[in-house]
Amino acid sequence: MGLRFSVWNLLLSLLFLCAPVLSENLHDSHSIPSHMNHMDPSTMVFFTLKDLKIGETMPIYFRKRDPSAYPQALPREEADSIPFSLKQLPYLLQFFSFSDDSPLAKAMEGTLNHCEVPPIEGETKICATSLESMLDFVHGTFGLETKFRVLSTKFLTKSATIFQNYTILQVPKPMVAPKMVACHIMPYPYAIFYCHSQMTENKLFGVSLGGDNGDRVEAVAVCHIDTSHWSRDHASFRVLGIEPGSSHVCHFFQADNIVYIPAPTYHD
Ligand SMILES: *[C@@H]1O[C@H](CO)[C@@H](O)[C@H](O)[C@H]1NC(C)=O
Repeated sequence: MGLRFSVWNLLLSLLFLCAPVLSENLHDSHSIPSHMNHMDPSTMVFFTLKDLKIGETMPIYFRKRDPSAYPQALPREEADSIPFSLKQLPYLLQFFSFSDDSPLAKAMEGTLNHCEVPPIEGETKICATSLESMLDFVHGTFGLETKFRVLSTKFLTKSATIFQNYTILQVPKPMVAPKMVACHIMPYPYAIFYCHSQMTENKLFGVSLGGDNGDRVEAVAVCHIDTSHWSRDHASFRVLGIEPGSSHVCHFFQADNIVYIPAPTYHD
């Protein structure tokens, strides 16, 4: 097969990865399981534009995960030599030597499932199996000639607190983002980047947050202006007590999300 990576490395990375991710499987955005508990703190990242002002306090969940626990990205040629489809799961389990009912198998199945769900109206998505194909998707979305910026939420302090009240310390900085691609790493034996992009209007902000425990976070927030195509089950509607399409929805990006926006051009 000419595969240079070692299955042992994959196993180790998946073991590290699975425990936190399995239960949490992408709460970030549009894939929130409908059975999720109403009081799950991981849903406490939703708010509206009127909350985005200096001095405002809100409870926010920020996942903290050791970056070394992430699966490694494969070069495109290697990734392309491995099938990536739910249909091929039995073969893949054999390939990675995972038993059918292991948590590792369940994680792979969950990711393949998620990747095969068609995008909602007004959205494009990809599960990129390499960094190269992630960047192809970004180029495809913005146009080949467009330079882009990479944004992420950054922790300026170290602590183990993942859920607490944060206060907005400075006037949130709006960023010009006619288009946006957001990517999340999925639980899988090697790095799978689930990326999606809405064609509808978004507003992006840089927000300086101070936690009750003294934590400082430079967070990236997005407000989705048109939510009319979102699933009724989307946790944000429950949290905010609204109906799809009746209001915009804002949320903070987790620190392990990668957000791409076109770089501003200085001509206009
Ligand atoms: C946040 O502050 C509110 C109001 O003071 C309080 O009721 C709530 O328990 C706090 N939440 C957390 C997670 O500390």
